[in-house]
Amino acid sequence: MKIIWILVLVACFNGVCLNGVTTNETTRPPFVNIGALLAYDSTIGKVAKVALQAAVDDVNSDPSVLGGTKLRLLMQNSNNSGFLGIIESLKFMETDTVAIVGPQSSVTAHVISFVANELQVPLLSYSSTDPTLASLQFPYFIMTSRNDLYQMAAIAEIVEYYGWREQPGDDITDLLVKVALSESRILVVHTFSSWGPDVFSVAQHLGMMGPGYVWIATNWLSTHLETNSPLPSDTMDDFQGVLTLRMYTPDSELKRKFISRWSNMTSGTTGYGPNPIGLSTYGLYAYDTVWLLARAINAFLDQGGNISFSGNSRLANLSGERLHLDAMNIFNGGKMLREKILQVNMTGVTGQLKFNPDGNLINPAYEVINVIGSGIRKIGYWSNYSGLSEVPPEKLYSSPPNRSSSSQKLYSAIWPGQTVQTPRGWVFPKQWKTFENWCPESG
Ligand SMILES: *[C@@H]1O[C@H](CO)[C@@H](O)[C@H](O)[C@H]1NC(C)=O
Ligand SMILES: *[C@@H]1O[C@H](CO)[C@@H](O)[C@H](O)[C@H]1NC(C)=O
Ligand SMILES: *[C@@H]1O[C@H](CO)[C@@H](O)[C@H](O)[C@H]1NC(C)=O
Ligand SMILES: *[C@@H]1O[C@H](CO)[C@@H](O)[C@H](O)[C@H]1NC(C)=O
Ligand SMILES: *[C@@H]1O[C@H](CO)[C@@H](O)[C@H](O)[C@H]1NC(C)=O
Ligand SMILES: *[C@@H]1O[C@H](CO)[C@@H](O)[C@H](O)[C@H]1NC(C)=O
Ligand SMILES: *[C@@H]1O[C@H](CO)[C@@H](O)[C@H](O)[C@H]1NC(C)=O
Ligand SMILES: *[C@@H]1O[C@H](CO)[C@@H](O)[C@H](O)[C@H]1NC(C)=O
Repeated sequence: MKIIWILVLVACFNGVCLNGVTTNETTRPPFVNIGALLAYDSTIGKVAKVALQAAVDDVNSDPSVLGGTKLRLLMQNSNNSGFLGIIESLKFMETDTVAIVGPQSSVTAHVISFVANELQVPLLSYSSTDPTLASLQFPYFIMTSRNDLYQMAAIAEIVEYYGWREQPGDDITDLLVKVALSESRILVVHTFSSWGPDVFSVAQHLGMMGPGYVWIATNWLSTHLETNSPLPSDTMDDFQGVLTLRMYTPDSELKRKFISRWSNMTSGTTGYGPNPIGLSTYGLYAYDTVWLLARAINAFLDQGGNISFSGNSRLANLSGERLHLDAMNIFNGGKMLREKILQVNMTGVTGQLKFNPDGNLINPAYEVINVIGSGIRKIGYWSNYSGLSEVPPEKLYSSPPNRSSSSQKLYSAIWPGQTVQTPRGWVFPKQWKTFENWCPESG
């Protein structure tokens, strides 16, 4: 026994064992490149930019996280353009990045996912949450926040809770006038933060923010309100009585600490007008995404993973062309890093981060928010586990899930037109009156 021990020690001299297993010391590179792709001026991008930089600084200032290796963050501005986003991501693939945080939009993510698959570079996205991205077709695309699938489930359950009929989901901007003339009074607005406010100002103009109407906005609205708060009161007028969702992150010491640092990190920035950028839940998820990646890179290096790249034979055939696509390399350790990412189990500012076998983060949940006056009021929660509740979801995880309609609860809401009475959700159709208006001579 003793002799074998000594032999192994000798064989491992200089960090390299005879059996080919390399130890930590020799495989730890001084730094690892990671990319981030965001639209700096967008509602989500300006928050994420601060949060990503803070996370990289925090990881790098704590040698215990990566055993002395530092993250080198290369950030690119996609300028809110799907086209530039695609070009910028291709450029990352030439700089030997082991993973890319982003892209910010689902449109770019669809295109880039094909490239990421080919070059084996994981994409970790805290903001592209389109359910179709979570398919098996894109194994290198990893959603590090909440899949919109759950947001849609939450809205369907809210509609059912108030006893409204489900209406077909139409393209809202095009159909506002049509809706005003139809029997439906329930409108769900799922769009980008940059367009959403316009929908509401048109609706206000058309008198569709009054009594009888129900407006439900996906989390673009809560994000808009958090990032740009306080908004002027005439802008807030457009959102009175609207319900919106916000990704739920449980209260914790880590989260409180991060929130208290935020004003320092954003002093001198501008969100809306002279106000500094407000912290949205995307900021929390962006911050945790870098930590999750750092944990995965550490596990990767611990297991002897190498940061090395090789040419792609399919692209090599393109050499000589002006785009120099042949400069894009395959990350040899990509498959292993992807596995390590999906195995992470950590606690961050957003709570516990761990992936389900289906690739979604565990315990998806949202807060249900009612916009009232100059602020917002939380009227409850939705969780994948037990549906709508007045108490935070983690209080329910210890008992068996109860989806019976009698166990579904929300605090009362104040609806458009400042009424507490739950709107009926429909009116008698105005069709024949419309007909009369359009064909006066036919009567
Ligand atoms: C590398 O170091 C970590 C602790 O930092 C240890 O748990 C792990 O077993 C080591 N891996 C190898 C291959 O020596
Ligand atoms: C992105 O936007 C910034 C500021 O608006 C501008 O200076 C820059 O040229 C733009 N980049 C590209 C590639 O269009
Ligand atoms: C704010 O940031 C500065 C520099 O980054 C630091 O010296 C200072 O202690 C911070 N203040 C607080 C209250 O965290
Ligand atoms: C890393 O590289 C070394 C030497 O090139 C090799 O022996 C080892 O198998 C590689 N590790 C992995 C996980 O590919
Ligand atoms: C690259 O070009 C060579 C010669 O034209 C061809 O034999 C090879 O199959 C091509 N490789 C790929 C991956 O298309
Ligand atoms: C993940 O972490 C949590 C909290 O630290 C722990 O309770 C749980 O057992 C861990 N799960 C796995 C599969 O390691
Ligand atoms: C959501 O709930 C469904 C049905 O209970 C379950 O199959 C799925 O795994 C859950 N998703 C997550 C991310 O927990
Ligand atoms: C579910 O909740 C309802 C109302 O709170 C209760 O009456 C019912 O017994 C519960 N069902 C289970 C299986 O716990």
